[in-house]
Amino acid sequence: MYPDVIKKEHRIEIRSHIDSSFRSEIIKDVSTGLNASRKSIPSKYFYDERGSQLFEEICTLPEYYPTRTEMSILKLSAPIIMKSFDRGDIVELGSGANGKIRMLLDAAGHSKLSGLRYIPVDVSETALTEASEELLKIYPKLEVLGIVADFTLHMDAVPSEHKKLILFLGSTIGNFDEKKREDFLKLVAGTMNNNDIFLVGFDMLKPKATLEAAYDDMRGVTSEFNKNILRVINRELGADFKPSHFDHVAFFNSDRERIEMHLRANRDTTVHIDDLDLELDIDKDETIHTENSCKFSREGVKDLVEKSGMKIQNWYSDEMGWFSLTELILA
Ligand code: SAH
Ligand code: TRP
Repeated sequence: MYPDVIKKEHRIEIRSHIDSSFRSEIIKDVSTGLNASRKSIPSKYFYDERGSQLFEEICTLPEYYPTRTEMSILKLSAPIIMKSFDRGDIVELGSGANGKIRMLLDAAGHSKLSGLRYIPVDVSETALTEASEELLKIYPKLEVLGIVADFTLHMDAVPSEHKKLILFLGSTIGNFDEKKREDFLKLVAGTMNNNDIFLVGFDMLKPKATLEAAYDDMRGVTSEFNKNILRVINRELGADFKPSHFDHVAFFNSDRERIEMHLRANRDTTVHIDDLDLELDIDKDETIHTENSCKFSREGVKDLVEKSGMKIQNWYSDEMGWFSLTELILA
């Protein structure tokens, strides 16, 4: 029965909406993506346990500026944001690890407050469970309702009876294409009431060399993260991708204002995917597109927000204008 209650104890409940449809979805997604003339695999399949760990490691790399820049913005803006939010639900979409929510809870003086509930939503069950349990220890009054779900499919699983502060950080919005990002903002706006706040992090346009280094670090952690998607497909669909037959490629596509990540075959290679009954010949230099990370201009953000039926209430940024944290409300 779904949702499946994975855990229910004092102050914490974790529900999963990832059910048998996950299997039919991954089968459909991978089969569509790999049978196309330009091969691709959707990026949500990066995030199994190892993928989530690798992503956390990416966040600490010197080349990967977005995390520390967004954290520095949060440090200054959290006290202002939390001033008007001392009761209600903080919903975090694609929550991952818990560094950013802690800055908001600390700014709210949460050791003194009760009345706040934290609702992380993430496809990665292990990342969500670990992050939630740690928060319970740090904040003895906090309640946590974890929701393991695909936020593009299960927004209706997020309760809406209280005032909400919704977080969508890390420029995860940039991982959608233009149409999907507008649809997604509309979907979230549809769950909002007049007093609710939606905090969205946008990574901004900047020099190409800085962008490309952030997605192709010296130590090769991003390369491992990218190749992890092949390991996920091997495990979930009985495939035999050899990660060493592929190279990590990341470049800035200036026409489309986005970083593209691909896996490029470094030799002719044949892959069998048992569960799809598929034998796939991949030629040397052929690529599998795994991720886009769009970069934004201020006008682009404003335009997107307005099209989605919202308006910008506050705009927080760093000195260099490298990252923006926008506070949105219904128009
Ligand atoms: N918010 C964190 C993590 C960003 S990485 C930060 O700012 O650093 C993106 C996160 O979204 C990962 O934890 C990943 O597991 C999750 N995610 C990606 N696609 C998702 C989807 N479709 N539904 C739910 N979670 C998703
Ligand atoms: N939303 C982040 C970004 O686009 C996270 C991310 C997705 C990422 N895929 C990545 C970061 C690959 C580094 C490498 O930056």
